[in-house]
Amino acid sequence: MQKAFDIALHSLAGGISVAASEPEFLHGAPERGTFYLETFGCQMNDHDSEKVAGVLLSRGYRQVESIEAASFVLYNTCSIREKAAQKVFSRLGEFRENSGTPKKIGVLGCVAQQEGEKIFHRSPWVNLVCGSASYSKLPELLAQLEAGETRVTGLDTDTDETFETELTRRDNPWRAYLTIIEGCDKACSYCVVPFTRGPERSRASDSVLSELKQLAELGYTEVQFLGQTVNSYADPLSNKMKFSELLRAAAEVPGLRRVRFTTSHPRDFGHDIVEAIESDERICNHVHLPVQSGSTRVLRAMQRTYSREEYLEKIAMIRAARRPIAITSDIIVGFPGETEKEFEETLSLLEAVKYEGVFAFKYSPRPNTPAQSMGDAIPEEEQSRRLAVLLELQRKIQSEANEKLIGQRFEVHVEGKSRKENQWSGHTSCHRVVNVSSTQPDLLGKYISVEVQGATPNCLVGAHRFEEPAG
Ligand code: SAH
Ligand code: SF4
Ligand code: F3S
Repeated sequence: MQKAFDIALHSLAGGISVAASEPEFLHGAPERGTFYLETFGCQMNDHDSEKVAGVLLSRGYRQVESIEAASFVLYNTCSIREKAAQKVFSRLGEFRENSGTPKKIGVLGCVAQQEGEKIFHRSPWVNLVCGSASYSKLPELLAQLEAGETRVTGLDTDTDETFETELTRRDNPWRAYLTIIEGCDKACSYCVVPFTRGPERSRASDSVLSELKQLAELGYTEVQFLGQTVNSYADPLSNKMKFSELLRAAAEVPGLRRVRFTTSHPRDFGHDIVEAIESDERICNHVHLPVQSGSTRVLRAMQRTYSREEYLEKIAMIRAARRPIAITSDIIVGFPGETEKEFEETLSLLEAVKYEGVFAFKYSPRPNTPAQSMGDAIPEEEQSRRLAVLLELQRKIQSEANEKLIGQRFEVHVEGKSRKENQWSGHTSCHRVVNVSSTQPDLLGKYISVEVQGATPNCLVGAHRFEEPAG
């Protein structure tokens, strides 16, 4: 998922200010304790935290911005690579000194689901361990802690959990995340997600569309469908909608101007999705289609279910679209047994595809995954070298591609305001970050026309072009 784009937005814009809106349902709820919630990981976790916050606020808990002010400290965690999981344990370690604190400490998300009750042994001051399929039980679990219990868990991976989505407290007032498919049924040999988020289950299309209408009425103009394999969406209704049909129907919702989706799995990516993007400008012309490796042998060892050639056929199909579509990817370097020649195949794939953006990672062995017990581990220094070589190549590719955009105009959805005067930032439909100068007041949430005047590998710099008022 393309979180780094958003990170780029934050850093390049010099800090953005986004006001979280307080939903109607909060008014009148009796005040309970306070909670601090910190989120790690992907956009699905960000969105889950919006749901967690919504549920707790609706029950009278108040969200605070500091650990000191909180009666409940909650970490929504990620376990995709070892470093991500370690970060959580180091946060938890900070409570070791004060383990007699009256604060209640909770671990949510993927580390919670993966490690389960083992977390209590490693960090005995933790009081709550709860995975993403059990968040609707959170108020009950917190109430049990308030009533004196010291350790409570929500670790079912029940698949037909219907989350109370109307209680979501969204952080961004313009772009709304919406999970349309939970879990993952693929079995990539390196990946923890099928264990931490359980099997795939899709949300019914009528429920997705009715929430979209509500979101549009609340003033959201952009929505982003989320799923680990979003295009494997399988509508549970009897008159099933295909994923591409759902995209088209979403774009028709009055008030919505942009519909995004991430992450797509190459195996399930069909021409119908390209046709949907071609036919309706409101469907964003960006596809995140992670390849992971350019070597068919490595892809087989990763159990990715496609070869290099099959992947490149999908790319050719997307590049042939009548409307240009940006393509981004995830890559893992130093998978067990990856030879220098196989790594070079990944480099040559980057040259062939010329992605608009890439997120690259050193392979990290994860618990319970088949790849963990594969021999031929690549030493860390060699992984680092491969990562640096790959990132340098991709930087060059992006730099050349972005330079070519100078002089072109893009519609930018302004989502951030820099501390610097007259500086704004936002995204194009193809999800490029654009830093914009404009003397117009109050552009937040607006769609503006921007002429590109400069480019770096990770962002465009431009000026707002607006019609001068007549007279
Ligand atoms: N569902 C998405 C992405 C899941 S996680 C997909 O299938 O593409 C996001 C990215 O983390 C993956 O695309 C992969 O590049 C990376 N990743 C997952 N497991 C990893 C591991 N064990 N070591 C290093 N990177 C990993
Ligand atoms: Fe993990 Fe593969 Fe599923 Fe993506 S498709 S979440 S990489 S198992
Ligand atoms: Fe997301 Fe990390 Fe879980 S990437 S699905 S939060 S393991």
